[in-house]
Amino acid sequence: MGGVRGLLPAAGGVRLAALPDPGVPIGAQVRVRMLRAPVNPADLLSLEGRYAFPVDACAPLGAEGVGAVEAVGPRVRDLKPGALVLPLDRGNWCTHRLVERSALIAVPPGMEPATAAMMRINPATAQLLLNASGASRGEVLLQNAAGSAVARWVRLLAERRGVELIDIVRRPDPALPRALVDGPELPSAVAALARDRPVRAALDCVAGGATARLAACLAAEGRVIVFGHLSGEPIAIASQALTGRQITLRGFSLRPAEAALGQEGVHRLFDGIWRLAEEGLPPLPVGPVLPMTEAAHALALARQGAGGRVQFDLSAE
Ligand SMILES: NC(=O)c1ccc[n+]([C@@H]2O[C@H](COP(=O)([O-])OP(=O)(O)OC[C@H]3O[C@@H](n4cnc5c(N)ncnc54)[C@H](OP(=O)(O)O)[C@@H]3O)[C@@H](O)[C@H]2O)c1
Repeated sequence: MGGVRGLLPAAGGVRLAALPDPGVPIGAQVRVRMLRAPVNPADLLSLEGRYAFPVDACAPLGAEGVGAVEAVGPRVRDLKPGALVLPLDRGNWCTHRLVERSALIAVPPGMEPATAAMMRINPATAQLLLNASGASRGEVLLQNAAGSAVARWVRLLAERRGVELIDIVRRPDPALPRALVDGPELPSAVAALARDRPVRAALDCVAGGATARLAACLAAEGRVIVFGHLSGEPIAIASQALTGRQITLRGFSLRPAEAALGQEGVHRLFDGIWRLAEEGLPPLPVGPVLPMTEAAHALALARQGAGGRVQFDLSAE
């Protein structure tokens, strides 16, 4: 199948469909030839009907991806054909897109597409999660699923902010020898590491019982920020934790948080991310890279969760 095409939702899976050609850019539009796109947990949740936002059954999936500029409208002066760009919105599992310049982030020269493809979601999420945590220099912050890509960005940023991070994993992880293993003993293990410093915030992308265990580690008036649902379980937390110690539970999602920043704020956020990237990235391992024709296999590999981020090669036939 040649021409413009994309991966659309189809009965719990995806189907590769021919799409109308988006056409020639006018005004401040940019025509983008998509190159690479990862399969993120949010994509899998979307397909399973468990995502926080409705999925458009008629539009391509794909929370993030990178493409190369193919052509620009007459009002676009700062992007040349071939430059790598990240569309800010969803719909990236496709071959071509027409995007307003204001909804594109220019990738700095020299960054490989495989890396750039993973720069839209997780660095911004980590940055805004840390802001939402309120944790400042010298304070202690907890995060679970500490082996995740978001957690790697949080570690990098927390270190720069002088925030002491306590990592929590569900099972021993040789890559994180100092991480605590989640379980009933978590509060005492956290207290031993935090010593006399109050633990005011926790970042939770597991939910279920994990939220309650994080809450039990916090000082009075601490906050748990829930930004994922990896356990698939509803949050289970004793109401006494909320009343007795006045713990607050707060939800976080990247796109609403970015909407609150406004368009200029989002572009400034990415300026900061590129400055950070110049000084070094956290490990961002790439897993198997597959064409869209092998989407079912790609999704199965992503669900297995081993060996780096599964990506689509969107330019492969
Ligand atoms: N709200 C937002 O805007 C937003 C934005 C970005 C990401 N997220 C969420 O952030 C989370 C992490 O995303 P990611 O892309 O960084 O993930 P990732 O790189 O795919 O990593 C997943 C990690 O989660 C761990 N994990 C999986 N299931 C778990 C469970 N039931 N209990 C505890 N740990 C579990 C895995 O641990 P093992 O190594 O033990 O397998 C692995 O280390 C996801 O929930 C994602 O949806 C939310």
